[in-house]
Amino acid sequence: MPPSLVNLTIDGRKVAVRKGTTILEAARQVGSHVPHYCYHPGLSSPAMCRLCLVEVEGASKPMPSCVTTVQEGQVVRVNSEEAVGHREGVLEFYLVNHPLDCPICDMSGECDLQDYVHYGGRERGRSQEPKRVFGRDDFGGDVLFYGDRCVMCTRCVRFMSEVEGDERLTVVERGDRAVIDTFFEEGLEGTNWHGNIVDICPVGALLSKDFLHKARAWDLEHSPSVCTSCSQGCNVELHVRDNLVQRIKPRENLAVNGWWMCDHGRHNYEWMNRGGRLQEPYARVRSSSTGNGSSANGSSGNGSSPNGAGRSSWSATLSRVRDALIAARGGAGTLAVASPFLSNEDLAALVRLVDALGGGRVVYRSRRAPDENVLKGFPQLARRRDLAPNTTGLGLMGAKRVGDDDGAGGLDRVAGHDGVVIVVGDALHDQMDDFAASASAFIYAGSHAPPSARSAHALLPVTTFAEQEGSFTNLDGRVQRFSPALIPPGSARPPWFVLGALAASMDGGEMARSTAEAFAALSASSPAFAGLDFEALLEGGAMAKTEPARGEGR
Ligand code: SF4
Ligand code: SF4
Ligand code: FES
Repeated sequence: MPPSLVNLTIDGRKVAVRKGTTILEAARQVGSHVPHYCYHPGLSSPAMCRLCLVEVEGASKPMPSCVTTVQEGQVVRVNSEEAVGHREGVLEFYLVNHPLDCPICDMSGECDLQDYVHYGGRERGRSQEPKRVFGRDDFGGDVLFYGDRCVMCTRCVRFMSEVEGDERLTVVERGDRAVIDTFFEEGLEGTNWHGNIVDICPVGALLSKDFLHKARAWDLEHSPSVCTSCSQGCNVELHVRDNLVQRIKPRENLAVNGWWMCDHGRHNYEWMNRGGRLQEPYARVRSSSTGNGSSANGSSGNGSSPNGAGRSSWSATLSRVRDALIAARGGAGTLAVASPFLSNEDLAALVRLVDALGGGRVVYRSRRAPDENVLKGFPQLARRRDLAPNTTGLGLMGAKRVGDDDGAGGLDRVAGHDGVVIVVGDALHDQMDDFAASASAFIYAGSHAPPSARSAHALLPVTTFAEQEGSFTNLDGRVQRFSPALIPPGSARPPWFVLGALAASMDGGEMARSTAEAFAALSASSPAFAGLDFEALLEGGAMAKTEPARGEGR
């Protein structure tokens, strides 16, 4: 046994843990959950809630397990009659003042007090005294404070001072009059990470204005995902009801974001719910003399789609697109515009298609913020300047950034190109309606059909990252997987599937039938992704073989 390990027994189970581990953490390692409020692994431990009391053999009193470190030969009982009895007594004190308003509380269904009372509380409280009343307060930013529900764990105060590094909350008054408050009129306004205090409040005392009364916790589906709002790649969950993302919550990954996420990323989700989607594939063949066209299904394309082409099945569209690409292949070459919101698998399929056309250039545009915003108490986490999730993946696959820090410009060469033009995911928001009008073949794949795709031979409806499975590569080269959260509209398919089908029909190779196969093809073709296992990427991710991005613009 290495000397740094300590042997003890918890609820009859022998366990060896690292010296310095608390009993609460050691119990967690053997599957014994100790109730707690004030303890949080990302904060200091004030040991003030007394809910984590356990029985330690030989100790004269119950011990707070969040600050009591393990000792060699220690015998701990988390679930003995004595330990449960102590915690039941503490819980009863919490309920002396806590209102019984679970039916109208946003936290109901994911509240620690509700759970603890349900599993270990008394059936009936004995207090006859009137409850203390604090009422509500607007703490500024996205946070409402329901003072009557507060259990005074001070996690919110400690987060703001220890992690955000901006003391905006404090405890005022003493005893049972103690309450959380802001300093005079200065609330949370202007701080960048305060949404985390809503996450870590163990009860419904801190609520998000954005989420207020939107959905009951038990009606939400949770999908593990990755934040797309900057290149940090924070691990998150998308919470969905009625096929709409209702909120984003951080997911623990100590190597990337710890337990936290920034307010910018947390609130940037409405675009995933945006309607007006391109739902069906459209294709046409333009006459070289007039620029007018007929559709893939033989109709004249008289305004039946955003580009005047006729609606068509996927197989007819892809076959028409393939013919158009083969006819145009080898002329003035291929220029492709990708998006940093595409997954690694999508990008690999695009690169393969460009190669099948004889090679060409892949460019992308991306927005950059003027500054990074570092989380002071957890400095490996920052809202990065690079406001997209996969510019590293693009770089690893040879794509070049063009345009300015607003994600505009840089496409003049593509707009006037008379060879093949392929655009995937870029909304072309700043481009003219005649974008790529002289291209021998112009294929547009996107979630929406912008006016500047009017000249496209084919409009291909593709999913957003929230509707598909895939992976992104963050600024440090960590490849992280995300899962589908939404049902895609109409016939939209993942870009890797559509582009992969086209590429396979042209180069005669295998077509990937699943995201895992698309990732396997990527790791076989790109040395940076060699040896990575798609299944293993969901928990924590894995490092691509790349130099981490450093310096300007990361
Ligand atoms: S508001 Fe929530 S996090 Fe803050 S002290 Fe009260 S219960 Fe704890
Ligand atoms: S730091 Fe970046 S990745 Fe993390 S939540 Fe904020 S925007 Fe998203
Ligand atoms: S969690 Fe141990 S005293 Fe609060």
